Amino acid sequence: MKRDGACKSLWQSTADDYVSGENKVDQQTFDVIIAGGGITGLTTGLLLQKAGKSVLIAEAKSIGFGTTGGTTAHLNTMMDTPYATMEKNFGENNTQTVAKSIQAALRLIRETVEGYNIDCSYQQSMAYLYSKDEKQSKELETVYSGSEKYKVDVAYVNDIPAPFPYNKVIRFGGQARFHPLRYLAGLAKAFEEAGGVLLEDCRVTAVDELENEYDITSGMGRFKCTHFIYATHIPPGVNLLHFRCAPYRSYALAIKLKNENDYPDAMIYDMDDPYHYYRTQEIDGQKYLIAGGEDHKTGHEENTQACFRKLEAYVRNYYDIDKVTHRWSSQYFEPVDGLPYIGHLPGHTGNMYVATGFGGNGMIYSAVAAMELTQLITTGKSEFEEVFNPNRIKPVAGFANFVKEAADVTGKLIKKVLPAEKLTELTDLAPGEARVVKYEDQRLAIYKDEKGRVYALNSACTHIKCDVSWNNAEKTWDCPCHGSRFSYTGEVLTAPARKEMQVVGIAETVGQK
Ligand code: FES
Repeated sequence: MKRDGACKSLWQSTADDYVSGENKVDQQTFDVIIAGGGITGLTTGLLLQKAGKSVLIAEAKSIGFGTTGGTTAHLNTMMDTPYATMEKNFGENNTQTVAKSIQAALRLIRETVEGYNIDCSYQQSMAYLYSKDEKQSKELETVYSGSEKYKVDVAYVNDIPAPFPYNKVIRFGGQARFHPLRYLAGLAKAFEEAGGVLLEDCRVTAVDELENEYDITSGMGRFKCTHFIYATHIPPGVNLLHFRCAPYRSYALAIKLKNENDYPDAMIYDMDDPYHYYRTQEIDGQKYLIAGGEDHKTGHEENTQACFRKLEAYVRNYYDIDKVTHRWSSQYFEPVDGLPYIGHLPGHTGNMYVATGFGGNGMIYSAVAAMELTQLITTGKSEFEEVFNPNRIKPVAGFANFVKEAADVTGKLIKKVLPAEKLTELTDLAPGEARVVKYEDQRLAIYKDEKGRVYALNSACTHIKCDVSWNNAEKTWDCPCHGSRFSYTGEVLTAPARKEMQVVGIAETVGQK
C-alpha cells in the first residue's frame, strides 16, 4: 500500500494493495459521504452502512495513504492526556464519559476483528509506563491515581519486560496491538460487502452547502448527500480547528534483534520529553521490535534524518540490534486542550461533521469518532457529543502562541538570499538536497532529485501562506503552521491545503547538472 512519504513503513511492506470489490457508482445521492479512507473514515462508514445508511467513502489517494499507514498502532487505555489532566480541564462527569468511550472503542475494535474474521495479528497485551527519577515518579503517581479513579485496569509492579533502568513502574491491563493496514483492508472489505461504495483516487474538491443537502464535487464527478464527514485527519480549508490543533511529527523504527528472547511481549513507554515507546509485532512468523519517539512540531527540525539516528542510538543502549528493517515517520495533530474534536464542524451547517485532534491515540479515537458520528447521524444525539464537541472553548496557557511560533520557524531555516546573478548556485545543491531560498522578491522551495533535476516551487503553503519546511527523511515540503504537506512537485499530500503549490519555472533557468 502507498503512503504520504518516501520512507516505507513496516505496515506498507507487509500488506497487499487493497483491491476494491468493483462497486459501481450507479447512484449520485447518498445518505452520507465521507472524505477520507483511513481508519476513521472506514470504521465510520462500516458502522453507518450497517445501521442502514447508504454511504460513499471518497479517498483522495488509496486507503491507508495517510497517517493510518504510518501509525505504530497502539490500542490502549493509557492516553496521552492523563485522566487527572482531563478531570482538571473537563470535570469528573466528562472524564467518566471519555473513559467509557475508550473502553467502548477497544471493544468495538476487538469485536470488528472477531466479527469479520480480520487477519491482522490482533493480540491482547499489557502496557508498562516507567519513571527514571523522583520527578517522573511523581508524574507517574498522578497517572496511576487518575487511571485508577476512572476504573482503568492499572497497578504498580516491580518489573518491566525490558532491560531499562527504572525508578517506578505501572502496568495497564486490557491493551492490544495489531497490524493497522491489514485491519484497514478488513474494514474496507466489510464496508463494501455491506453495500458501501469506496472510491479511491477520488479527491473531494468542493462541498456546497444547499438547503437540506450537500453538493459534492470530486475527482470522479458530482454527488449529493444529506450528511457529510471530513475524516481527513484535519479538515481542509480554513477553520477554527486549525488554530486549536498543532501538527507534530513522530518517528518509528522496525528492528530485528539478535536474540529472539529479547522481544518484549508488551507495550512499554518511558516518561522522557519527547518520550520513547516500544512494542513487538509478529508478522507472518517474523518478530519485529517497533521503537518510536523523537517527536517534534512539524517543520521545526532541520534534519529529520537525524531523528532516526537519535532514536536508533537510544535503542542501541538497551537492545542488541541485528538490523533496522524499516524507518518511517508520521504526522499527528495535538489538540489544544488534550481531547479530540469530534462532531459538528464549526462554522458550517449542522449535518457536516469532523473528527480530528487525536494526538498520539489515533487508533482508539478513530473508533470513538466512528461510534459518536454514527449515533449523531442515526439518532441526532450521542452520549459522547458534549465532551468532544469541536465548538467547545478551553483555552490552555501557551498554546495561543503556537501559530505565531510555527509561522516564524521557516524564516529561521531560510539558508541564503540569492541575488539574480547567483541563481545558478542552486546547481550546487547535492542530489537529494533541498532549500528554501530568497530570490528577488520571492521565496522559493527548491529540491534537486537523485538524478540532478531541480524542482522549484513558490515556498508559500497554499493554505494560508506560511513558508514550508523541507522534510529530508520523507522528501516532502511540510507546513509548520497547520500541517499541510506537499510532494516536491507541489502535489497536496495532507490537508488542510486543497491547492497544489505553485510551480516556478526555474529548472530551465538553472539547468540540470
Ligand atoms: Fe496552514 Fe500551511 S497549513 S498555512
